[in-house]
This record gives sequence, C-alpha cells and structure tokens, in this order.
Amino acid sequence: MKILVLHGPNLNLLGTREPEVYGSMTLDEINTRLVEAGRELGVEVTCRQSNSEGVLVDTLQEARTWADGVVFNPGGYTHTSVSLRDAVAAIGIPVVEVHLSNVYAREEFRHHSLLSPVCAGKIVGFGWKSYLLGLKALVE
Ligand code: DQA
Repeated sequence: MKILVLHGPNLNLLGTREPEVYGSMTLDEINTRLVEAGRELGVEVTCRQSNSEGVLVDTLQEARTWADGVVFNPGGYTHTSVSLRDAVAAIGIPVVEVHLSNVYAREEFRHHSLLSPVCAGKIVGFGWKSYLLGLKALVE
C-alpha cells in the first residue's frame, strides 16, 4: 500500500510558525516520523508540501495513478478552495483531512471546510499526531 501525505501552504514553516498553535516540530521531523510509522504499518509513505494551490491540485491528480490514499492538510486552502475540493472529489481514492490545531476552537472562518464533504474523514487538534491518526485510519 502506498500513501501520499500532502501538506498545504505555510506548513513548510512548522517549527517556527506560531509554535503555541502548531507545536515545535519541523515539517521534516513530522515527515520522518510518518515514514517510520508507515514502515511499522507495512505501507510506503511519500510526503510532499506546496504553497501553491495549482501544484496541490497537480499532486492530487498524480496520486490517482500511484497512491492508495492521501492524508491531506490543506492549510488555509481548507476554507477557500473549490479547486482542491473538486480534485479530491475527482481522484477516486480516499482522502483523510487533517489539521494540527483544533480549528473549531479558533476563529470562526476556520470552522468551515470546503473539503470535508468529499473526504473519507477528518482529524483535528492532535498536533503532528493528527497526521499519524489519519495514516492509521487510512490503512485500516
Ligand atoms: C491548519 C489550520 C488552518 O486553518 C490554517 O490555515 C493552517 C493550518 C492546521 O493544521 O491546523 O495553515 O490546517
């Protein structure tokens, strides 16, 4: 089984970006842990990040050809992007939406996700472990 872990905008700054909200682990550290967890679960984990909506759409479309599922943190695009929602709906493989922070305990504009209705499920609020839980959910 092959899983894509996809990070959206500003998540490349993890570690220094609002650590009180997003924690102190860097994106590289999170990716390393997810690859290791994948190994233990018997799945191959590939991690990608982009700040660009179009690149994220391209990456989701390509995943259709090689991945069995996607763990996706769309960052701020969660709340704005019709194109990412359409890509998730189009690719026909399960996508789990994840967020490091508990978006429901934050500003109201973060309470709405355009992607949730087309995702297999969603995990929020557990820091980097939101990704881990999303990965385990996909594998199961
Ligand atoms: C986030 C939550 C979003 O509202 C925010 O724009 C992000 C990160 C999270 O992981 O908690 O960039 O997706």
